[in-house]
Amino acid sequence: MADKIESFLRSGAGSAIAAKLGLVVPTLNRFESGTGLPMGDVVVSSSSETLRSLLSGLGLITVSANSFAQSASSRCDALILDGRDYRKAADLAGLHEFFSPMIRRLNVNGRIIVIASPHLQAHTAHEAAAQKALEGFTRSVAKEIGSHGSTAQLLVMESGADDCAGSTLSYLLSTKSAFIDGQVIHVHAAQKAEDSNEPSKPLSGKVAIVTGASRGIGESIARTLSRDGATILGVDIPPEEEALRSVMSSVNGHLLAADITAEDTPATILASANALGGADIVVHNAGITRDKLLVNMDKKWWDMTLDINLGAAQRINDALLISGLNDNGRIIGVASMVGISGQRGQTNYSASKAGVIGYVDYMATVKELQVRGITINAVAPGFIETQMTASMPVLTREVARRLNSLSQGGQPQDVAEAIAWLAHPGSSGINGTTLRVCGQNWIGA
Ligand code: NAI
Repeated sequence: MADKIESFLRSGAGSAIAAKLGLVVPTLNRFESGTGLPMGDVVVSSSSETLRSLLSGLGLITVSANSFAQSASSRCDALILDGRDYRKAADLAGLHEFFSPMIRRLNVNGRIIVIASPHLQAHTAHEAAAQKALEGFTRSVAKEIGSHGSTAQLLVMESGADDCAGSTLSYLLSTKSAFIDGQVIHVHAAQKAEDSNEPSKPLSGKVAIVTGASRGIGESIARTLSRDGATILGVDIPPEEEALRSVMSSVNGHLLAADITAEDTPATILASANALGGADIVVHNAGITRDKLLVNMDKKWWDMTLDINLGAAQRINDALLISGLNDNGRIIGVASMVGISGQRGQTNYSASKAGVIGYVDYMATVKELQVRGITINAVAPGFIETQMTASMPVLTREVARRLNSLSQGGQPQDVAEAIAWLAHPGSSGINGTTLRVCGQNWIGA
């Protein structure tokens, strides 16, 4: 849903003015059907056989920089540079050599992926510096290509993790990641989960619990995970039961009308999940804002926000982790950009969302979960067009939705696609990540 200013900037007269003022609002290609992967050339500079075969396995047309330079095609859809062999400052010249002539040839809605190794696992300080430099480069180039709807991400791959990067490369190269920009994603070496027989339904046979599923981002998560083959158990408060029923019936899902903070809800969710064969995916999406400056904030609003956004999810996990979450399970929290940046008038909300990130950081290190192949991650949405953001004061809203490299607000679908990637069986190497879904928002970056 574009606002009036955005609609004007996209109109004939508006777009001319926007171009002059540097206010271009690119149209983002979002996933509709098929694979969403690039159909044109993907130019790759990497000596990793595994990586090149992963890319070919995705059905991409990969070409080397040299062949592309000599080829008839004038444009490409994606540029991938593997910088893991950069050992010293002088090696960074490779970034300029590869990207500078290529950027002009990248199509709109193009993708850049830079690959690094964890700088703290480098053998020398010079190598650590070169690896970390890739991050600064990627975040900056993302800001240069955003006005074309193009994005850039850094993949930090642990040694031996190439095998576990398939679902991540596929997601980042596809239209599913349209609103993900300037992110640093760590891929760990993990047991590679079995691929689903049906690539278009990677979650078939899986049961996914989604809280707050009756509308907004939660509804989109339910629809997207269902599209990918999961059976959905949607949870929302009793007053939203009718809306929840309508969403669940359209995805052939199951519903539970319950307040997640009620004392008996964790046990009820556990029983409902076990009746479906146990949960494979749990998405803690339900959340509220109760904004006020701290000096004026009621204790009631403080407690309610912390309990819905943080405490309840932890109690549900405690119940499910005893006997309701299957091996190779996926726990996914919904944090927020303000949990990273802080926000005036949102001390309660920001504390709750930073808590989600801290919880994910810690739980990802728990050995008992790792041996069972369970991962825990979060998404941190920036400005997403929902009822929650529609109720913001108008001026704050107009500014907030534009403060990112793509100059627009995200859609619930953008958050849902990120969650579908984290839930994918092939994402076993993604653990302890908080992915910002914010179009590279300038706040808290
Ligand atoms: P929304 O207000 O449209 O939907 C939230 C859903 O959670 C509603 O269906 C509501 O009934 C449900 N819910 C609230 N309290 C509940 C409870 N005690 N028990 C069960 N269900 C409950 O919000 P929206 O925008 O879809 O947000 C979803 C999540 O994304 C929230 O966690 C929010 O904090 C987060 N988020 C949203 C952003 C945005 O720009 N819209 C930005 C950053 C984070």
